[in-house]
Amino acid sequence: MNQKLSNEMWGGRFASGPAAVMEEINASIDFDKRLYAEDIAGSKAHAAMLAEQGIISANDAELLQGGLDAIRIEIAEGRFQFSRQREDIHMNIEARLAELVGPAAGRLHTARSRNDQVAVDFRLHVKAALQTLDRALLDFISALVDKAEAHFDTIMPGFTHLQVAQPVTFGHHLLAYAEMAGRDLSRCRDALERLDECPLGAAALAGTSFPIDRHRTARDLGFREPTRNSLDSVSDRDFALEFLSLAAISATHLSRLAEEIVIWSTPQFGFVKLSDAFSTGSSIMPQKRNPDAAELVRAKPGRINGALVSLLTVMKGLPLTYSKDMQEDKEQVFDAIDSLFLALAAATGMIRDMTPDVEAMRKAAGHGFSTATDLADWLVRELGLPFREAHHVTGRAVALAEEHGVGLEDLPIDVLKSLNPRITEAVYDVLGVDASVKSRVSFGGTAPDNVRAQIGYWRERLERNGNRHVGG
Ligand code: ARG
Repeated sequence: MNQKLSNEMWGGRFASGPAAVMEEINASIDFDKRLYAEDIAGSKAHAAMLAEQGIISANDAELLQGGLDAIRIEIAEGRFQFSRQREDIHMNIEARLAELVGPAAGRLHTARSRNDQVAVDFRLHVKAALQTLDRALLDFISALVDKAEAHFDTIMPGFTHLQVAQPVTFGHHLLAYAEMAGRDLSRCRDALERLDECPLGAAALAGTSFPIDRHRTARDLGFREPTRNSLDSVSDRDFALEFLSLAAISATHLSRLAEEIVIWSTPQFGFVKLSDAFSTGSSIMPQKRNPDAAELVRAKPGRINGALVSLLTVMKGLPLTYSKDMQEDKEQVFDAIDSLFLALAAATGMIRDMTPDVEAMRKAAGHGFSTATDLADWLVRELGLPFREAHHVTGRAVALAEEHGVGLEDLPIDVLKSLNPRITEAVYDVLGVDASVKSRVSFGGTAPDNVRAQIGYWRERLERNGNRHVGG
């Protein structure tokens, strides 16, 4: 049968029959060219080691180094001709190397396979992403800490069920996100620690008969040590899965912040104003200011969670060692890297740039009888009531205030005395929002003094990590 004959079902899409489908499903060059710098670094380290071990000649090694450097420049300058026939980044570079340096190029693949080659390239890429993420998270934390410092005693309502619960400080609320980012940072470092083993030299799957020095290539490429099992080396993608997991968690944190920014910036809440830099107008409604950046940050977990589930599903049930299924790892990870960095940068920018409306927040903090718990605590502390009874008395006070259409602090003393005759004027000291937040001094509580102490903790932690104080 003529292979070139166009298939009735799908022939229209492919110029030349089955071979073209094969090329389209098989080629990864369109996306794995992103690994070119890692691929060249891996090849240079491998070539240097081969020469040092006497496996190739010093002269060939020199040719290879020169050719690889030239190719890196060609690609960086956009002069490189990528070809789908050459399938992936590894073969594109090797084929070009042959054009540049001749037969020596054929010696580069001694004691190596594309299986360990792609494993080392991809690890280097994820490692660099984790290192960048480390800095981006520190930057985000630093923006939160700066804003928290400026608003360590700004009062806002704290919510549970998105219902006003108790007054808190805006600084405390922001530092809650610093805690989340701090855990993201530690997950990032943790993943880096486990990733830091070099698979190069595992060859196709079984190792090699050549006297290679895997410790040397590992060291050259900045890894702590070589991997210990050649089969695992070419089949492991845990480092990518771990990156996607921690990226999903981090993006989830950012999406919660983004959702709060969306809510806070509605005219109904009016807690913060985003600058023009992070808002867009409506093409039809001139009055609108839309928090598009926040909404997109809120949406990013859609892609990142998708990438995580996608790669988990690709890896599930794969027999050892390498299978071509694993080529599907890259696009997911690349997209997650880009999405997470964009979301982090936008969140950092929005935090730095938002203007809180201190008066609006304070006013909202007093709504919804937010100091009811303070009244109950006062009844326990000053009158010795059991908390359950104090809760009941306070409930009746709230009902009366609601009936009169006033706040708790506006209830006349005789109304309060009708609930319990031992209540005195002193109770008013705890019914205001200022007194309420000031009293929350338990470790980790929202009192402004606590917030200041926590800012001190974060400044010290940031400094230890080389993050300079940006001020604010
Ligand atoms: N492009 C391939 C990938 O990304 C490289 C490894 C190919 N190895 C092989 N034995 N076909 O997974």
